[in-house]
Amino acid sequence: MDAFRITGGTPLSGTVEVSGAKNAALPIMAASLLANGPVSLTHVPALTDVRTMALLLGKLGVDCCWQTDGTLRLETVDAAPTTANYNLVRRMRASFCVLGPLLARRGRAIVALPGGCAIGDRPVDLHLTGLAALGANIRIERGYVVAEARRLVGARVHMRGPRGPTVTGTANVLSAAVLARGSTIITGAAREPEIVDLGQFLISLGAQIHGLGTRTIEIIGVDSLGGGEHRVIPDRIEAATLLIAVAASGGEATVSGVVPAHLNAVLEKLHDFGVAVSVERDHVAVRAHGRPRPGRVVAQAYPGIPTDVQSQFMALACLADGHSVIDDRVFVERFRHVAELVRMGACIDRKGSQSIVRGVANLSGTEVTASDLRASAALVVAGLAARGVTTLHRIDHLDRGYERLDAKLNRLGACIERVRIARGRRRCHKDSSSEFLP
Ligand code: EPU
Repeated sequence: MDAFRITGGTPLSGTVEVSGAKNAALPIMAASLLANGPVSLTHVPALTDVRTMALLLGKLGVDCCWQTDGTLRLETVDAAPTTANYNLVRRMRASFCVLGPLLARRGRAIVALPGGCAIGDRPVDLHLTGLAALGANIRIERGYVVAEARRLVGARVHMRGPRGPTVTGTANVLSAAVLARGSTIITGAAREPEIVDLGQFLISLGAQIHGLGTRTIEIIGVDSLGGGEHRVIPDRIEAATLLIAVAASGGEATVSGVVPAHLNAVLEKLHDFGVAVSVERDHVAVRAHGRPRPGRVVAQAYPGIPTDVQSQFMALACLADGHSVIDDRVFVERFRHVAELVRMGACIDRKGSQSIVRGVANLSGTEVTASDLRASAALVVAGLAARGVTTLHRIDHLDRGYERLDAKLNRLGACIERVRIARGRRRCHKDSSSEFLP
């Protein structure tokens, strides 16, 4: 198992570029099952999750390969398989995004239910009622969803649950409806930029979709889709993580290659925390001024602050000059980072979906363990700001969703070493993240 050894205390400075968005790339890769011809994707991040999706698509008859120029090329070579097995789905919940495309294109999909998750309950009821509304016959058999339909039929589908619209549920229904007979209206749709990007990709294959980025999406079904090319949008969660890391380190740096509009809520919140923010066409610069001010972070659906940066904001709030409130309205149990931050000297009280953070002047480095992707990112942020050395275990979580985060932060002056923890011994292992590169 790899770990990060982070020597904190250096204010970050310089410029760093973001990668393509994981949460756009994964449903887009899944939607390539719909294409009648090769698909070329650029700006796909080289991540464990992308590799897992490529493995799953391979088992579903899609040939996935990286070209020498970094393009990911996907082409269906065998349209017979219809089963996504538990081994891959439990490894990565986004595997469930193959359900809608498989059903629409092959008339049948057998996809494992994803099971439990470290960030709390993650039901898929809205995915299933949405596809059933399009005429699919759906049953659960021995932990698998079995969905069948000769051809889906357009319908009105509602995608908003008690905690807001479902992102991958919207992706599944949108991807299925493009090949349905007639028109589909999705109400309560997710407005996340990653859903807009998926829609743009489907349009580039020949789909007819209106209203992307709004609560109501209209899809006029077509008989077939062709192949195509698409560039994945920049990763707004990676960008936010880098900006918060710079702020927590007391530094001044620029994050480039972003769409600033996707980051509006995050940038406003950084400003509330007392961080100077300046925005240009495709980059954002931040400058910290001493200790952060305390703030109130409410994570909710786009255009609100993403739940995927809740933990990183909490790491920043740990250092604020006063009390902050961190409230996650999307995943009310997503607080496994709290106990680890407390190990580093943070003062945090959990009250339901809220955490009250009493800022301290300094965090101190120690051994901590990541429980999931964004919790790992929060612990990296805390480690960069802390006094002394933080050893972050289980960075396999981090590698699922951040492309060479250690290398990027080191380029800004951070001191992060990748070490391998083996049989009680630690050996320096400078840059194993390169094995994830295409
Ligand atoms: N929900 C339901 N019923 C459903 C589906 C969801 O009640 O059928 C609820 C969930 O319990 C949650 C809320 O709706 O309270 C939103 O969940 P959503 O379905 O939107 O989450 P998701 O689609 O499974 C995606 C991202 C997550 C991100 C969430 C919220 C991908 C691959 N995953 O998950 O990303 O946190 O949206 O924005 O896009 C991450 O990248 O670390 C990550 C977890």
